[in-house]
Amino acid sequence: MTHDGSDGPLQYSSQAGIERFERAAANSVPGREHAMRMAAALLAASVPPGGSVLSVGTGTGPDLSLLASIRPDWKLTGVDPSAPMIEVARNRLAQDGFSGRCRLLVGTADELPAEPVFDGASCLMVLPVLPDNGAKGALLASIAARLKPGARLVFTSPYTLDEQVEMGTAWRWFARGMGETDAGIEILAAQVRRDIHFTSEARLMELAAEAGFHPPQRFYQALWFGGWFAEKQ
Ligand SMILES: C[S@@+](CC[C@H](N)C(=O)[O-])C[C@H]1O[C@@H](n2cnc3c(N)ncnc32)[C@H](O)[C@@H]1O
Repeated sequence: MTHDGSDGPLQYSSQAGIERFERAAANSVPGREHAMRMAAALLAASVPPGGSVLSVGTGTGPDLSLLASIRPDWKLTGVDPSAPMIEVARNRLAQDGFSGRCRLLVGTADELPAEPVFDGASCLMVLPVLPDNGAKGALLASIAARLKPGARLVFTSPYTLDEQVEMGTAWRWFARGMGETDAGIEILAAQVRRDIHFTSEARLMELAAEAGFHPPQRFYQALWFGGWFAEKQ
């Protein structure tokens, strides 16, 4: 385990590490909760009644719980390769009363049958933990293979802005304003350097097109974080 409680790229196996992740995510991603709510709304606007929705890299399950709460008619599946994160998601969904409607699996989308059965999917803050060496593209392609034609994917990721725009300093001030200590900010900054693979928006659009999506539309931008939705071709 690393000094920040993670076992690798933003994966956690200890309760303390997971709590630290939850706090850090809330304190360092401006508008995170509203981005999740907007992602859920964008799915609600496109997924038919009774539809099936997949949350890829669901982590501790915040978006699954939100999706379950706004659309009681949906069947939900969450996948994440981190067993401890899935365990927290399982407890969260049980506490929120949604266990019966949510299937949780330890693994990646690749472990689901490669059949286009889902009416929508979310993939929140997962692309950034994968390098752009084929891994980001493979993730998007594995989601596309499981979506029906025309089904919507919503995804969020930090991304590089125009080279002239420096966001790191503002981001540190944001986290400080949210209550992070200087030491906490240094841990976060080290995690970003170690675990986050930044790409430009143009590259994300290219990867989505290569995976078989129509051109994505951006619905969210907060400092260096963005969110997009795209329909499968
Ligand atoms: C930054 S967390 C985001 C979790 C959650 N979506 C959220 O927004 O709170 C990134 C998650 O991606 C998961 N992950 C890493 N590689 C993955 C892959 N190839 N497929 C799916 N999930 C992956 C990690 O286990 C981790 O839970």
